[in-house]
Amino acid sequence: MDAQRLKENFAQVAQHGDAVALFFYSDLFLRNPHLRDMFPIGMSGQRDKLLRALGQIVSNVDDLGELVPFLQGLGRDHRKFGIIAEHYPHVGASLVATLRHYSGASWTPELEADWVAAYDVVSHVMLEAADQDGMAAPAWWSGEVVAVERRRFDIAVLRVRPDQPLPYAPGQSVAVELPQRLRHWRYLSMANAPRPDNTLDFHVRLVDGGAVSPVLVRSVQAGDRLRMGAAVGTLVLDESSHRDVLMVAGSTGLAPLKAILEQLAQRQTPPRTTLFFGARTRDALYDLPHLAELAGGHPWLTVVAAVSDEPGGGGFGMSFGSPFGAPEGYGPPGVPGSPVSFGASSWFGGPPSGASPGRPPGSASGRPPGQAPGQAASGDAASGHAAFGDTFGSAAAPVPSAPPRIEHGTLAEVVGRYGSWHGHDIYVCGPDAMVESTADRLLRDGVPRDRIRLESFAQR
Ligand SMILES: Cc1cc2nc3c(=O)[nH]c(=O)nc-3n(C[C@H](O)[C@H](O)[C@H](O)COP(=O)(O)OP(=O)(O)OC[C@H]3O[C@@H](n4cnc5c(N)ncnc54)[C@H](O)[C@@H]3O)c2cc1C
Ligand code: HEM
Repeated sequence: MDAQRLKENFAQVAQHGDAVALFFYSDLFLRNPHLRDMFPIGMSGQRDKLLRALGQIVSNVDDLGELVPFLQGLGRDHRKFGIIAEHYPHVGASLVATLRHYSGASWTPELEADWVAAYDVVSHVMLEAADQDGMAAPAWWSGEVVAVERRRFDIAVLRVRPDQPLPYAPGQSVAVELPQRLRHWRYLSMANAPRPDNTLDFHVRLVDGGAVSPVLVRSVQAGDRLRMGAAVGTLVLDESSHRDVLMVAGSTGLAPLKAILEQLAQRQTPPRTTLFFGARTRDALYDLPHLAELAGGHPWLTVVAAVSDEPGGGGFGMSFGSPFGAPEGYGPPGVPGSPVSFGASSWFGGPPSGASPGRPPGSASGRPPGQAPGQAASGDAASGHAAFGDTFGSAAAPVPSAPPRIEHGTLAEVVGRYGSWHGHDIYVCGPDAMVESTADRLLRDGVPRDRIRLESFAQR
């Protein structure tokens, strides 16, 4: 099998753009009308999803070491679509027919034999993984929406109870399908660590013109049912590490990071953790009161809020909790080297007299009496035993009594301003552009690549 030849052929075919996917699906459904029902009714916009992946995967078949874990995941993942072994040859035949059509004169019997062999290897790995998974887990989980909280016109928090436990690691996501949008599976990240009652929280942001998120945000109600695939994703806690933690969340990218926070809170000694939570505007910081409450109860946690699209800014940001979650001497421009955290309780009760920028109230040094820099406060909360309260339901959330001050700038800018993050384990999640710019910034600042874990909410 000549993998280089496959890659060159696929690149040549891909130049024909959208037409390739259109040809592939027309061929597949004409020859196999019974397969049509497995795909969403409206396929525009994502028509090339399967085909693009197929071509890329199959033409990288010479790198099986890298590919195998991915293919195993994909094979398991296909169980929720109802795909079984007998479907694979049909897809393979249409793939080859499509490649042949767009290759024109450069198509040869050798090339065809290579594509068939590569597709066989890939299918085999996927099917084997699916079979193995079938012995241990259902193809999907049904569940009931037990609560919905609409936080803003475009953001809702849903709580779902699966009919049977759905195993996952904090930071992972599941594909979700609604009866109102059959076969439109969309990934959502669990926003909580596993609970005894198995419920899962999801934070959903409405994407304008989207097929699924508007239904989730605007229409779904308690009592509605939905289906979920197996948990996927690699944005999970590095359990072996004892480094400090930096988290950067854009909008509902907060969800998986909040689940990881809950996991950290269960540790005997949680690491010092700084969470930057950003959005375009203040009112889009939909979970800030809850985060402030968490920071108030957990001295190892500092929360910094940031907005990118609002003018102004008071020069120093709003942050909650211990100033020791962030690097020593961090501070915004204009207040060099000075911590800017306020204790959450003080701030939400209104800044206490004597509080001033650059100095947490009640502490000349910026840290609680008797506590050294980098040393967590003593007591239950510091040791992680403080309850990681159930923050579902706005009644549980504290209401700020004063308009909070917030950092201004993109998350990449704000995180960069706060100093150096060498020595931290870093978790970044949110919209594509935000994840990319934050990662770029951290890398430029010299953070080693292998310390940064990323998840982007870009469509898959
Ligand atoms: C691993 C993973 C985890 C995710 N977790 C969450 C989560 O916890 N909460 C959450 O709100 N979303 C999450 N998403 C995004 C979610 O899966 C959907 O992509 C999103 O809800 C849009 O779906 P839709 O059907 O409404 O839009 P679609 O019909 O899929 O798309 C409509 C249009 O919007 C564009 N688009 C699609 N997604 C986005 C986006 N995220 N931002 C901007 N434009 C987009 C498309 O390109 C298309 O032009 C996650 C995505 C991934 C890959
Ligand atoms: C080598 C074999 C295959 C590869 C590499 C492959 C790859 C993919 C990928 C990457 C996706 C997107 C995954 C996601 O959104 O979670 C996908 C989706 C899908 N695949 Fe496959 N696939 C293969 C075989 C098949 C077969 C045999 C079928 C059966 C008809 C099939 C049916 C589907 C369906 C129904 C979807 C969902 C499409 C959508 O939501 O738009 N796939 N496939």
